Amino acid sequence: MDIKSFNLFKDKCFINGEWIKAISGEEISVNNPATLKEIGTVPKCGKDETKQAIEAANASWPEWRSKSAKERSTIMKKWFDLIMSNKEELAQMMTIEQGKPLNEARGEIVYGASFIEWFAEEAKRIYGDTIPDPLIDRRILVLKQPVGVVASITPWNFPNAMITRKCAPALAVGCPVVIKPASQTPYSALALAMLAEQAGFPKGTLNVITGKASEIGEELATNPTVRKLSFTGSTEIGKVLMAKCAGTVKKVSMELGGHAPFIVFDDANIDDAVIGAIQSKFRNTGQTCVCANRIYAQSGIYEEFCQKFVKAASELKVGDGLHEETTSGPMIDEQSLEKVEEHVQDAVQLGAKVAIGGSKHSLGLNFFQPTILTDVTPEAKITSEETFGPVAPVYKFKDENEVIELANNSPYGLASYFYSRDIGRIWRVSEALEYGMVGVNTGLTSKAEAPFGGIKESGLGREGSKYGVDDFLEVKYVNMCGLDK
Ligand code: SIN
Repeated sequence: MDIKSFNLFKDKCFINGEWIKAISGEEISVNNPATLKEIGTVPKCGKDETKQAIEAANASWPEWRSKSAKERSTIMKKWFDLIMSNKEELAQMMTIEQGKPLNEARGEIVYGASFIEWFAEEAKRIYGDTIPDPLIDRRILVLKQPVGVVASITPWNFPNAMITRKCAPALAVGCPVVIKPASQTPYSALALAMLAEQAGFPKGTLNVITGKASEIGEELATNPTVRKLSFTGSTEIGKVLMAKCAGTVKKVSMELGGHAPFIVFDDANIDDAVIGAIQSKFRNTGQTCVCANRIYAQSGIYEEFCQKFVKAASELKVGDGLHEETTSGPMIDEQSLEKVEEHVQDAVQLGAKVAIGGSKHSLGLNFFQPTILTDVTPEAKITSEETFGPVAPVYKFKDENEVIELANNSPYGLASYFYSRDIGRIWRVSEALEYGMVGVNTGLTSKAEAPFGGIKESGLGREGSKYGVDDFLEVKYVNMCGLDK
């Protein structure tokens, strides 16, 4: 399947309503991770084109913010409809550039579009406030206003949904956006821009720039016209961007790394827990920030859980995501594969047993076998570092207090999961877990209606839900005085 033959294929950047090349004419290569073959190129833009995009966004701001919420909502709904009617093509393009199985890619298109639909509706509900003033002739009025130009730096693991989850709330409340998609997956972003153009966003409202990540990121984080930067990626890069944003005191949203505990108590429904663990661990070949990274099974059900978990993992089909039967695609690149190998080897050297998998897949290239490790020790790297791959370490624990302590023993605080049928325990553990998200009897919590985000070194801010607009709004207070005259 040649990605260049798709109607939504664009290999130029979208700035100020125009499709442009890099000023230097330079390009970067984009590869299919399932074949390692080049599928196309995109412009290698840098600082100058980023400035152009920021200026275009800023110039479009007065028109966009002065539209009524209903007018913005109508354009966004059109964008949503166009995405949904092009779902299959967008999914196939995503699989070719990102590697995830087609069914997951289809799911991501629907998931991504759901943020546009949600925020198109939420646009009409940006309520302010009136507050009684202590003096009789005065009133306090609270207005919510768009923050200004928003920069979105998005990752390769969800090439569509991480863009819509950031841009839909920004656009809904009246902010223009400049998007820098991951260099591995630019075509999903450019296809979204093409559909946005068809939906009728005014020129400059939505811009997509591809190219040199460090140069573009530097400009987005330091340019004073950008008033808000929203980033999804590693904690390491997030800290660097936060420091750069401090120079112009920008608002920031950071959706960073995670190290999710997944706890199965003795009283859990084990079959459900196995389904949840497979979903949470092996979705996108383990390349999500919310993937289960440490699976804790209580001693009474440890053996049964491990045996059923291994059986379920043995049914996963590794391959090119374009084949309908594939359930696990390739890793994004060789470096990611090496990290997975390193984590497995390190855990095994320290005493872990390989229950299934444990090495590269016979398909070669960037394919790794779905892997389960048992008897993993606390010293193993995998116990504290994010693996971002298809490896599930399983640990045995004795009681609730012990597992809460183990689960919270991490600088990360993004997603967590547990399985139990005891209502008292469900309340206790939900409240005790130091994580931004807790899945109870589920391995999948992401949805447009819910606030996605982490605490501690997993980030700042929330995406999705009614809270998702807050980061793109300024609160302005107006003191109305002299009302008795
Ligand atoms: C992520 O891995 O960054 C996002 C995962 C999700 O939205 O479920």
